[in-house]
Amino acid sequence: MDALIESAIAARENAHAPFSHFKVGAALQDDSGRIHTGCNVENATYGLTLCAERVALFKAVSEGARKFRRMAVAADTAVLTPPCGACRQILWEFCGDIDLILTNLQSKTESLRLKDLFPRPFDASFL
Ligand code: THU
Repeated sequence: MDALIESAIAARENAHAPFSHFKVGAALQDDSGRIHTGCNVENATYGLTLCAERVALFKAVSEGARKFRRMAVAADTAVLTPPCGACRQILWEFCGDIDLILTNLQSKTESLRLKDLFPRPFDASFL
């Protein structure tokens, strides 16, 4: 199996989701090939929750990574789970039109481009 998908599935195990019980893992590959992982981390106020995708991205940025190739997102759903709207915005700003691989625990996968999920983005080019 693709190491990126395996990493997302493994990262999902670390999810801190005591409120939703919905565990998500993400794995982001930078332009050097390094894989940065993340899981969702929930909070009692709910709204401060961080999704797996943003945890992976912010971890990568904090390690100095600035260019990215692709991200895998893993959740235990029959209909594959895509990034939420907030994550689509952040991913667009840092990664541009990367390849996204959605997967579940039954190894069902789907590949798509971020631009297909987020077709008319607002970003720094407007400022
Ligand atoms: N969640 C993610 O981490 N990524 C997604 O793509 C969808 C939603 C998390 C946020 C929250 O902890 C839980 O899943 C339910 O929304």
